[in-house]
Amino acid sequence: MMPCYEQETPGRLGPLTRLKALQLVIGLPFLIVLLFLYLMPMGIHSPCIQEKESLGPKPTLFGHRGAPMLGPENTMMSFEKAVEHGAHGLEFDIHLSTDSVPFLMHDHDLRRTTDIREVVPSASRNRSDSFSWDFLSTLNAGKWFLKDKPFYKMEPLSEADHEKARSQKIPKLRHLLDLARKEKKKVIFDLTRPPSKHPLRDSYVSVVVSVILASKMDPHLIFWLPAFDRDYVRYLAPGFQHVGRLQSVEKLTEQNISMINVDYKELFYGGLR
Ligand SMILES: *[C@@H]1O[C@H](CO)[C@@H](O)[C@H](O)[C@H]1NC(C)=O
Ligand SMILES: *[C@@H]1O[C@H](CO)[C@@H](O)[C@H](O)[C@H]1NC(C)=O
Repeated sequence: MMPCYEQETPGRLGPLTRLKALQLVIGLPFLIVLLFLYLMPMGIHSPCIQEKESLGPKPTLFGHRGAPMLGPENTMMSFEKAVEHGAHGLEFDIHLSTDSVPFLMHDHDLRRTTDIREVVPSASRNRSDSFSWDFLSTLNAGKWFLKDKPFYKMEPLSEADHEKARSQKIPKLRHLLDLARKEKKKVIFDLTRPPSKHPLRDSYVSVVVSVILASKMDPHLIFWLPAFDRDYVRYLAPGFQHVGRLQSVEKLTEQNISMINVDYKELFYGGLR
């Protein structure tokens, strides 16, 4: 006696069974691959994946030209914003006026970040350090920021900040140092050597050092970056910390420098090592 299901011809499956087999042939490997992908991260070892408790300290940030998305760069507003947002230190740029006032300005002329083109169009391409402080102190250093919106993704300013930005002036180095001393912030800066006919061509370093010393800032908060006359600076102000550029370890050791300031894009493998 044969059970009735054996009556089916061997090798010939019904359409429903064939579908089930197909599902199994496709579905099972699919599930296996899926399970593998799902569990795979457990086998990845990366220094980027760490327990929160084992993380090192957060990086400390210097406000580059202050907080240049929140206020016009190299103005007191910009540095106050940087302080407000917890910057560890402040970065800025110094030029010297013809009458010995170190002031904050990045560019070699005043066109981008002041209203000089409206005030004296004929002198708008003259060097930033070819003017007296009497003149520089009359310029507006904030309206350009509201008009040009120098960053692609800038939050709109509050009404108060808008007003504040509108009235920014070029700051003296002294103003910045007063803020840094009060807030105990580190400072680092680029210093532009005046051109050949400038009265401070050869004495600009000692002028800047004496302004810093007169501010009574803790000298250990000064990160001295300019390479010119470094030994003289060490003699005038032994407390400053010296910061070098990306040079060989031998060169840095020779100059007794243990910190460097470098564009992260230059930190290729060898440089970083
Ligand atoms: C700007 O530079 C020109 C050419 O060097 C000079 O003649 C002129 O006096 C300068 N203007 C100011 C306001 O310093
Ligand atoms: C190098 O710097 C350290 C710390 O700033 C200082 O103690 C040491 O005397 C310096 N050495 C030379 C040769 O300048």
